[in-house]
Amino acid sequence: MVFGKGPAAVQALQEISLSFGKGDFVCVVGPSGCGKTTLMQTLAGFLQPTTGTVTVDGRAIAAPGPERGVVFQQPALFPWRTVEANAGFGPEMRGEDPMHRRGRVESWLRRVGLLEFRHRYPYELSGGMQQRLAIVRALVNEPLLLLMDEPFGALDALTREKMQEELHAVWRSSGMTVLFITHSVEEAVYLGTQVVVMSPRPGRIIESIMTPFARQEGERDIRAIKSSPAFVAMREHILGLIWGSAEG
Ligand SMILES: Nc1ncnc2c1ncn2[C@@H]1O[C@H](COP(=O)(O)OP(=O)(O)OP(=O)(O)O)[C@@H](O)[C@H]1O
Ligand SMILES: [Mg+2]
Repeated sequence: MVFGKGPAAVQALQEISLSFGKGDFVCVVGPSGCGKTTLMQTLAGFLQPTTGTVTVDGRAIAAPGPERGVVFQQPALFPWRTVEANAGFGPEMRGEDPMHRRGRVESWLRRVGLLEFRHRYPYELSGGMQQRLAIVRALVNEPLLLLMDEPFGALDALTREKMQEELHAVWRSSGMTVLFITHSVEEAVYLGTQVVVMSPRPGRIIESIMTPFARQEGERDIRAIKSSPAFVAMREHILGLIWGSAEG
């Protein structure tokens, strides 16, 4: 992916080859400016790659579509709509029955702790609450592919771990495919079935690593997993790749 032309052109992505299957949880990590958002926007259909193709189910992506949900790096909410009306935007646009829509919206708002704020407006919410609302607005559409760009960046540590658990529960029960961008290697190793490590500009994939923790069976104890030797070793390996690419 190249932005612009001539001497001002910026090569944002180079020789990206990445594929993943239904139900995978793909986490993308890499330094600021390495092209993570650009990569996600080609999957969302907001950007067309300069060369190469992006396909879902064998079909080239030409435009955004409702089967691909997007949570942006900055929550892009409608300021004139209430929390409830923001959350129900997708189903409303598709002409879904209001009663049916309301039930689903309310249950999602409850799960992320926003139900009591449903009649408020985005400006009345904190940054973290706005981000949770943006996530609900995407999930309400039950997308096949959920594209999330650092969705938990604005959350405090406790809320962040709660949201990690909520998202993971949704992912496990729905069979949805997730592409998740994060600056936190720990978050990537914890949530992902696969962690894609990118290099600084032009963004390339240094390594794509299968990670076992997301599919672990049985009771998930977040603190026990994150402090286990296998987890720590994987986290340090990935941090080493990122540091190495920054020095090189
Ligand atoms: N629309 C655009 N026009 C021109 N250049 C762009 C555009 N979007 C991104 N870029 C450039 O492409 C490169 C990659 O940007 P991108 O936003 O994808 O990085 P990122 O990995 O998401 O960074 P961060 O972690 O800071 O969000 C940067 O050099 C950026 O300046
Ligand atoms: Mg970005």
